[in-house]
Amino acid sequence: MSIRPGEHAGPELGPTVRVPAHVGIIMDGNGRWAAARGLPRLEGHRRGVEALRRTVRAAIDVGVRYLTVYSFSSENWARPAQEISDLMGLLRRFIRNDLADLHRNGVRIKIIGERDGLAPDICSLLLEAEDLTRNNGGLTLIVAFNYGGRQELVMALQKIARKIAARVLTSADLTPELVAQHLETAGIPDPDLVIRTSGEQRMSNFLLWQAAYAELVFLPIHWPDFDRAAFDLALMQFAVRERRFGGVTGKTAPLTVKTAS
Ligand code: FPP
Repeated sequence: MSIRPGEHAGPELGPTVRVPAHVGIIMDGNGRWAAARGLPRLEGHRRGVEALRRTVRAAIDVGVRYLTVYSFSSENWARPAQEISDLMGLLRRFIRNDLADLHRNGVRIKIIGERDGLAPDICSLLLEAEDLTRNNGGLTLIVAFNYGGRQELVMALQKIARKIAARVLTSADLTPELVAQHLETAGIPDPDLVIRTSGEQRMSNFLLWQAAYAELVFLPIHWPDFDRAAFDLALMQFAVRERRFGGVTGKTAPLTVKTAS
């Protein structure tokens, strides 16, 4: 079953389906997908890039406004050197091969994560992708690369601490909104839905602050197998959940409402 703009998702959902404005994805299970087939881990990551392409198309189709994908975590440096080099190579190829197409489709690219420690040519590619697509008005694709939620929060607090030391701010100014404004995701709405594949059920340092009220959907498939049907399943789970944001009654989340025509 698929959810398309202007259609309803199924009889159980009634005539409208709520599409999350911002979806985060922990793309997990590439290695296990490959191992189960007797293939090298790199093949799992390659197929993971294909799944990412499919997912960007699906997100555009259903009207998701922001898609954040966890591509390389701060902790992934602990992997064997060859695998790290393979993942860097895939990022290079993804940007070189897909940037023009993403741009044509109105996708705005934003990269979050630490740039220090990345090869200079990768930093240039990341900047090129952001610069070229800066003014696009379609889907915002946020690639979390060399990213860690705790590290992002520490950096934000360091920026704030420097402003307090310089008397630009006082400690009384420190609010959740101020912290959010100093994160790399400043200006981007918090994720409404976080999907993790591979059956693991944890956040692994992904958007820790931003996902405070996200609905979590854990799927028992590995990332290379993630397809439109799996995406729709996650969207449908999201659509039927009641989001209370700590309150007692349902409130309207920042959602795109697709009305049946
Ligand atoms: C988790 O699988 C996945 C990653 C650490 C990297 C995700 C990367 C991709 C989907 C491809 C690269 C995309 C870009 C844009 C560079 P895992 O290796 O942890 O799998 P396992 O837990 O089964 O070992």
